[in-house]
Amino acid sequence: MSRHKIEWDHAAHIESQFPADGRPQVAFAGRSNVGKSSLLNRLFGQRLAGVSRTPGKTRSINFYRVDDRFYLVDLPGYGYAKRSQSERAQFSALIGRFLEHNDSLRGVAHLVDIRHSPGELDLRISHYFREFLPQLLTVLTKADKLSRGAAASQRQHAARELELPPSDLLPFSAEDGRGHQELWTWILDVVEK
Ligand code: GTP
Ligand code: MG
Repeated sequence: MSRHKIEWDHAAHIESQFPADGRPQVAFAGRSNVGKSSLLNRLFGQRLAGVSRTPGKTRSINFYRVDDRFYLVDLPGYGYAKRSQSERAQFSALIGRFLEHNDSLRGVAHLVDIRHSPGELDLRISHYFREFLPQLLTVLTKADKLSRGAAASQRQHAARELELPPSDLLPFSAEDGRGHQELWTWILDVVEK
């Protein structure tokens, strides 16, 4: 169990369901199947988020309340819909409004699978976040699938691809827990700013 009190709050399907209580929010975004729900469950120390649902099925934005103080926000995965050329449209209109018109949003953790080179879409989305969000952390998921050495060089490689300093990329594993402490530290730091 986490030393924090974690409660599932609600799912938002329309803008009017976004919290209006002014508590800070930190959101988690990434391609479908990147390990978002697994990461949240590891952070929570309990299985609150559904793992391995059919990719792309979840269209709602899920809010988890931490210590009655702030929200961690699970965004639907992107990248499975190739309907549009525009990076904005890769997210639903609902996610666009959540990201761009939300004074309570303090930071975004952008999840990328450590085994794969960040694609063009990941790069565009990373730049999109940087345009208007105060805090961005890139989390390299499933780090247990690589050796320590390979994970370290993949971090350097992904940093170059995403045009970020390597220190902005955090290797993480929901299996062995690596990166879990650092991620909590980043979250608590971001919500206090
Ligand atoms: P969607 O909700 O469908 O977009 O997926 P998601 O990003 O929430 O991914 P999810 O957590 O459901 O994980 C997808 C698959 O990757 C599952 O089979 C997980 O068990 C596996 N997985 C996730 N994180 C890790 C990890 O850190 N290590 C390993 N080895 N497998 C992982
Ligand atoms: Mg999920």
